[in-house]
Amino acid sequence: MLIKIRKGWDLSERDVTSESHYLKRRDLLKAMGIGGLIAGSGGILAARPAYAATDDPSGHLYPVPRNEAFVGGRAMTPEEISTTYNNFYEFGSHKSISKAAQALKVRPWTVKIDGMVEKEMEIDIDDLLGQMHLEERVYRHRCVEAWSMVVPWSGFALKELVKLANPTSKAKYLVMQTFEDKSVASGQKQFWYPWPYTEALTLDEATNDLAFMVTGMYGKPVPKQNGAPLRLAVPWKYGFKQVKSIVRFSFTDTRPKTFWEELNSKEYGFWANVNPGVPHPRWRQDTERDIGTGRRIPTQMFNGYGEAVAHLYKDIAKSERLYM
Ligand code: MTE
Repeated sequence: MLIKIRKGWDLSERDVTSESHYLKRRDLLKAMGIGGLIAGSGGILAARPAYAATDDPSGHLYPVPRNEAFVGGRAMTPEEISTTYNNFYEFGSHKSISKAAQALKVRPWTVKIDGMVEKEMEIDIDDLLGQMHLEERVYRHRCVEAWSMVVPWSGFALKELVKLANPTSKAKYLVMQTFEDKSVASGQKQFWYPWPYTEALTLDEATNDLAFMVTGMYGKPVPKQNGAPLRLAVPWKYGFKQVKSIVRFSFTDTRPKTFWEELNSKEYGFWANVNPGVPHPRWRQDTERDIGTGRRIPTQMFNGYGEAVAHLYKDIAKSERLYM
């Protein structure tokens, strides 16, 4: 973006808001041509209501047993903070979208599985939940904007969904897309964004043990603002890979252009693995602000998950930008 900032990691939430006002005054198309994610590190927020879905009938499934193999390694972020400090551009390009996101209807919700699969299918979210082994995992979450949190997600291993989909031997990538409905998501009226929000993983990434489909949070169904009813968690990558409110999984042999890559490929790439040694073009990535404690802490390679995922990248061409 064309904004003169102090340092990305010094921005307060107020800066983020004024940045969005600034953008409204700009020639938006021009700005988005070089634009990208808003750089805001946030801080501890005053307690705000934690909006919870009332039209989600899956409440009886939670809490689910915790898988102790996945621990956060530091204090969990209070629920009222992680559910009110969000990125969900469909509902606004600032952090306070939790109220606006309540407009999203999470039932009925159908998930489409298509592309290079033995048999394309559409499946109702509650049927899908019924077929999957649900567990809780505590994951660290590192946003490219240099803030982070520690969250007890509930859900199932993405590899279970890949197995259900039964991709053909030609499939190399799994593409995931968010719902599209301008009548509830006013952000989608902003035509300069390449809606629907699209993300993708290689099949090796998608079937890695860490890749997780989130359906719950803090022992309850995941709130709308955090990506109900189905959202991705790949904790070794920056948060923008973790697509929310998914309606479609497509298997393909062609690497797609993802949402942020299409907006600004110089700043946001396909791989987006966390690496403290590779700065964002406009700010450093060696530290992060924990939004629960407000403390600045060192960022770890692969967000501390290298043992599980580093091998995925050892044969990838040196020319690939693995860390942005
Ligand atoms: N998914 C959609 N559909 N729309 C978005 O704007 N933002 C991404 C990711 N998934 C986003 C999205 C970004 S930048 C981050 S950091 C995380 O969601 C934020 O997740 P949280 O709000 O649960 O913390």
